[in-house]
Amino acid sequence: MSAAEEAYIRWEDGRLVLIDQTRLPGEKRFLVLDTVEDVFEAIRKLRVRGAPAIGVAAAYGLVIGVQEAPETSAEAFLKRLAEQKAYLASARPTAVNLFWALERMEKRAQALRDHSVPEIKRALLDEAMAIQAEDQATCRAIGEHGLSLLKDGMGVLTHCNTGKLATAGIGTAVAPIYLAKARGMHIRVFADETRPLLQGARLTAWELKEAGVDVTLITDNMAAMVMQRGWVELVIVGADRIARNGDVANKIGTYGVALSARAHGIPFYVAAPRSTIDLDTAAGEDIVIEERDAEEVVTCHGCRIAPVGVKVYNPAFDVTPHALVTGIITEKGIVHPPYEENLPKLFDAD
Ligand code: MRU
Repeated sequence: MSAAEEAYIRWEDGRLVLIDQTRLPGEKRFLVLDTVEDVFEAIRKLRVRGAPAIGVAAAYGLVIGVQEAPETSAEAFLKRLAEQKAYLASARPTAVNLFWALERMEKRAQALRDHSVPEIKRALLDEAMAIQAEDQATCRAIGEHGLSLLKDGMGVLTHCNTGKLATAGIGTAVAPIYLAKARGMHIRVFADETRPLLQGARLTAWELKEAGVDVTLITDNMAAMVMQRGWVELVIVGADRIARNGDVANKIGTYGVALSARAHGIPFYVAAPRSTIDLDTAAGEDIVIEERDAEEVVTCHGCRIAPVGVKVYNPAFDVTPHALVTGIITEKGIVHPPYEENLPKLFDAD
């Protein structure tokens, strides 16, 4: 089966099956997760990663976490659910989709507090499946809206991995590229390798190449030069959390790409589902930025590249100020500044 057809995250016989992204591109290994601890570990260790995919995994993780809960009282069940939810929520702090999905699951259970526990359990599985199915549709809609920005022959730069591996569908920032390819357009993609964990090199280059997209891998420090040469006419990146004012937390290095795009007069777009927009967070400075182990910086794919004991700073994300963001591509359309005013309108009909 080709990468284009395969579901990288799926529910099978009461267990969560997902591709171990830490092993790509060398090895295509699927993990079968049947404890909440397994799901927590998979999220924390980036075996499953990318904001929407983390949300989907967490929703199924919660189903697993309460699978064996006693079925005597709904009250005791909801208490157990709250504990498992808090546990899963502590896996990673920045991608709001994790909290969004867990919150949605808990709300569904609470709305059924007058029902039997087996009924609540069934409803939770339905909800997790709905989150996954909606993400698929959302990715496609983001792709359709983003496609309006693309022209045949265009050069597009992207950062990190925002594709099929990072979502339940065709991705966010690369969804328009997949659709362009399907419609016979030729887009030249420049993929930043994305140090320290190389999501661009290991994952984006892999999945785009498998799909037959024209992708050129560059190291992060080449992006400015590629723009200077005029090879890039558009930047599209994903997001882990978008604050109410339009500030965007995304993979470390995104801010530098945005600055560079501005310096070269290149439009800088962010593609994300509404589940990544956090209206409760006023501005980027309020977003908790995950700091990860120093090991990720002093080693590169298992090889030590720095002296033992050197001081290390390893933030996994940065915040791009909204002033650098040309537009935000969502499943409901492309939002332009002023974000403070226009982002809340996306939720008007809900
Ligand atoms: O640390 P990661 O690999 O989970 O970070 C992922 C990103 O920063 C992605 O750009 C973001 O989640 C968007 S995924 C559609």
